[in-house]
Formats: sequence, structure tokens, C-alpha cells
Amino acid sequence: MIDLHCHIIYDTDDGAKDIENSISMIKEAFQAGFTKICCTPHYLAPQYVKSKQENFEKLNIIKQRVKEENIDIELFLGNEIYITNDIKELIKTEEVSTMANTNYVLVEFPMMFKTYLAESEINDLISRKYNVIIAHPERYSYVQKDIRFLDSLIQKGVYFQGNYESLLGKYGNQAKKTLIKLIKEKKIDFLSSDNHKENSTYTKMNKIIKVLKKYAKDEYFDNITKYNQEKVLKNIVFK
Ligand SMILES: [Fe+2]
Repeated sequence: MIDLHCHIIYDTDDGAKDIENSISMIKEAFQAGFTKICCTPHYLAPQYVKSKQENFEKLNIIKQRVKEENIDIELFLGNEIYITNDIKELIKTEEVSTMANTNYVLVEFPMMFKTYLAESEINDLISRKYNVIIAHPERYSYVQKDIRFLDSLIQKGVYFQGNYESLLGKYGNQAKKTLIKLIKEKKIDFLSSDNHKENSTYTKMNKIIKVLKKYAKDEYFDNITKYNQEKVLKNIVFK
């Protein structure tokens, strides 16, 4: 499996606190069967504003430890960018990182209210040839209320990343039901952990996979756990 969304870079957001935390989480991911991880710290001004360079330096320290400890996992850098009207500028000035230096960007929406930026900013990014991935659509209250909110985004060719642990009800019953519906309709392109701490999603993967297999079969299961993620890392457009 490949994870495209997690908070395992230490001391950069509300995820891993120190390098030991980061390494433990990576070991858990490896045990669960992940071979590649794109690390995506929050970018949300003013709380979380570590630059691409700062995150990259920490990731290199983590990579060194991973190598010393012989953990066979490949690490890449991205960001989970909270929607704002200047994402293109943030990319240009290297305040944020695209996914593994590709044209893919991971964008988060507000949980409780719709924003006009969802339309205008996404249009702008797409017109500049970025491939937009929306993080965990099942967690947004307005998507839970009316899944058709996603229709215009689907028409634009936006990609959707669901959180594995939504399937166990971590974010409530509505999020769980919404993700199952999106999976059944094959509207989810990737599942990822959004893991923030040790002893969390990575250690529950056996249970999660059992639930997932009820709703995602054969080729679609492989696509949303691995193959589509591989395309992102190779910068291949598939929508
Ligand atoms: Fe996240």
C-alpha cells in the first residue's frame, strides 16, 4: 500500500512531536504493509506555516534514521494545504510542497461550512495544470448532508482522498456512511491514513482492510490502496 496523507514529520504541525514519534509511526506503517509514504504536514496560516525547505530538512533527518534502522519504506514530501486564495503563490514561493514535487496538490476544505474558494481556487489551480486532490470529503458536514456538493468538483476532474479510519467510525457515523457511499459509487480515488500519532490508524489496518473489502472489490480495491497513489508519485494524470 501507499499512503498519500499523514502527519509523521515531527514538530511541524499537530502530528508527530519528536523524531522517535516519527520513527515509531513509520515502523507501524511498514508493519501494516505500506511501502511508500508521502508526508503531508498541515499548511494552515497562522498556526502551521513551516516552509517546504524546513519540512524537507526534517524529512531528510527522518530518512537517515529509516536507512540506519533498515526500514524498507520510501518517503516523499507534500503538504495538506488548507484552502486559501493564494495556493499558486505558496507553491511558487516554496511555502508549500506539491505531492512529491509533482503537479498534484492535496487540499483541505473547512469541516463545517462551504467556502466560495472551493469553486474559484480549484478552477484557478486546474487552469494552471495542477491536479487537485481533496482530502477526506466524507468528513465535511455539508458533504455528509448532501453528497451532490461534490458533483461540480467531479466534473472538473478533481480527485478525492478518503481516510481509512472513517470506515471504523473514527469521525462519527455520518462520515463513515458518507465514505462507504462514495466508495460504492467509485468516487474515491485514494484511501490514506491521515495518521497523526502512534498506535492509531497504522495499527488498525487489518481491521480496516476487512471492512473495506466489503465495499471495494478486486481492481478498484487495488486502485484506491496502491495503483492510483503510484500514479500520483509518477505525476501521471488519470482523470
Ligand atoms: Fe491531515
